[in-house]
Amino acid sequence: MKRLALIMLLLAPAGVNAESTQQEGRIIGDADNGKTLATSKTCVACHGTDGVSMIPANPSLAGQHENYLAKQLHEFKLGMTSGGTEGRVNAVMGGMSIGLTDQDIADLAAYYAGLTAPYGETVESAVDLGQQLYFAGNIDKGLAACTACHGPRGNGTPSSGFPRISGQPAEYIEAQLTAFRSGERDNDLNGMMRSVALKLSDEEIKALSQYLGGLH
Ligand code: HEC
Ligand code: HEC
Repeated sequence: MKRLALIMLLLAPAGVNAESTQQEGRIIGDADNGKTLATSKTCVACHGTDGVSMIPANPSLAGQHENYLAKQLHEFKLGMTSGGTEGRVNAVMGGMSIGLTDQDIADLAAYYAGLTAPYGETVESAVDLGQQLYFAGNIDKGLAACTACHGPRGNGTPSSGFPRISGQPAEYIEAQLTAFRSGERDNDLNGMMRSVALKLSDEEIKALSQYLGGLH
């Protein structure tokens, strides 16, 4: 017991230090300034006022996790500055993010994360297959259930980097799953989403994208 207490004592300060440096290193976003930027940088034109997209090809940003939003903006920018060899490569968002500073990105992420997430609808014909894949995966194909990472309501988890995927337009989800499958989108840590998407057929991608809208 005594030895254990000593070990704990020796370990404790190191743990505390590591945590506080990380907090100091993180740029704190200012949501009010993010709101101003969303208009002045014309984000609202494509992602809607209040971060709810009215255009099916564009994702909604409202209620998405702050760290996920910031990661995507940094990676769109990297996609541009690396000439498409790193980050998340998208011509439109590359152009939109290239002029953003680290502080702008933190502010925009804080603003959008604080807005109320939208809920969409699930297409009736997609319920059976969508639900089965979402909650059980497919053991024969070694397909992991989406719920394992994105949660039973599709809300993801802020700290682990799993995004909220419910309520997004079907067209956007379908495009992302197809891009992960082809490797065109490869900014997922450890290839987590690519290894999932590789096991999905076109029919399954369609069903999942139509299913997720109303999952909440
Ligand atoms: C001309 C339309 C357009 C404008 C303006 C625009 N976006 Fe986008 N945005 C898109 C599209 C299209 C995508 C999806 C890209 C893809 O398919 O990878 C996207 C994706 C994103 C994503 C990734 C969301 C996710 O769920 O992964 C974020 C974050 C984002 N935009 C933030 C912004 C911000 C902040 C601004 C303003 C600085 C902005 N966008 C301006 C069209 C636009
Ligand atoms: C092992 C964990 C894991 C599993 C299982 C998983 N995902 Fe993901 N998913 C992720 C991570 C991590 C990301 C974010 C990648 C990044 O940082 O850009 C992601 C991103 C996504 C996105 C893009 C979201 C956006 O806004 O652009 C979609 C869509 C998605 N996942 C759908 C699914 C579906 C459908 C399934 C089940 C077939 C699934 N995921 C299973 C970890 C997982």
